[in-house]
Amino acid sequence: PSNPQMGLEHPILRQADCRAKGGASGFKVAILGAAGGIGQPLALLMKMNPLVSVLHLYDVVNTPGVTADISHMDTGAVVRGFLGQQQLESALTGMDLIIIPAGVPRKPGMTRDDLFNINAGIVKTLCEGIAKCCPNAIVNLISNPVNSTVPIAAEVFKKAGTYDPKKLLGVTTLDVVRANTFVAEVLGLDPRDVSVPVVGGHAGVTILPLLSQVKPPCSFTPEETEYLTKRIQDGGTEVVQAKAGAGSATLSMAYAAVKFADACLRALRGDAGIVECAFVASEVTELPFFASRVRLGRQGAEEVYQLGPLNEYERLGLEKAKKELEASIQKGISFIKK
Ligand code: NAD
Ligand code: LMR
Repeated sequence: PSNPQMGLEHPILRQADCRAKGGASGFKVAILGAAGGIGQPLALLMKMNPLVSVLHLYDVVNTPGVTADISHMDTGAVVRGFLGQQQLESALTGMDLIIIPAGVPRKPGMTRDDLFNINAGIVKTLCEGIAKCCPNAIVNLISNPVNSTVPIAAEVFKKAGTYDPKKLLGVTTLDVVRANTFVAEVLGLDPRDVSVPVVGGHAGVTILPLLSQVKPPCSFTPEETEYLTKRIQDGGTEVVQAKAGAGSATLSMAYAAVKFADACLRALRGDAGIVECAFVASEVTELPFFASRVRLGRQGAEEVYQLGPLNEYERLGLEKAKKELEASIQKGISFIKK
């Protein structure tokens, strides 16, 4: 095609129109921030997902190149690229699922909250577009600080009159992925056989792995509990330090984002019994948002599960997590309300 951004719309292509519309089955997915460190491998993996019929790649830079590159993969999804604010509405219209990894990442010495000033505005603009163009889409929000960006998104949607708490999901899957990996290492198991619920939020002490609820059932010494909890809470910082100024987790994050997005798409298709951890509107604690296990269905997070029995170590961790979470949530709400 003369304009690779537009994907399959050259007049020489037979049935171009039909394919560009995504055919009969499959879901339409947009990635916002698609040219970034997470966005590119995420686009690659979503292009490989058989549940995706149309894949829209939106960014403020470099989408023509990423789109041309990804569009040569011989998998089913039709790929189209969108560049800059003036193409945001076209990128969003008709989408079933929006995945948002747009925004700046940490450098060594920074907290996720240090990203607030730049990323809050980016998330606000993108969510205003979603409210206007695809208010019924499921939103997977990755941009940090997740503990504040999810409340920002909720306030934007409330203002627009489109807020459906079930459809707004902060992505905490990377915490679960790390927890499964680190616990499996300690136990000498295959990580695929390990499942660790991680609740609370997505920053430092707000990341609360529930090691007393690990499957398969097992017990940990106090030293193992301390080591694992700290390593899971500091997993992001471990990568930021190793990358030494070149960004934060991108590859494991793209893997985690696809794991979560695929669960959302299977739920949209009508599959039963899909349960993942996510940061959502919640009545599990006194806070308005909290990460816990949720059952995904056609409407999004259709059921938010209680935390279950906690041991003393986890109860103390929960109190610390709630204190920090409360301030981060309030900061996000105030950003839109004031
Ligand atoms: P990156 O800088 O490599 O990529 C970000 C992309 O966002 C860039 O391509 C940039 O052009 C784009 N962007 C900036 N402003 C935009 C806008 N207004 N609209 C659309 N796109 C825009 O960063 P990255 O490593 O991909 O990380 C992205 C975000 O994800 C960061 O905030 C990071 O902290 C966060 N993150 C979250 C998790 C999690 O577990 N939730 C894990 C890793 C990273
Ligand atoms: C992570 O957990 O890897 C991300 O939130 C990125 C970061 O800043 O640590």
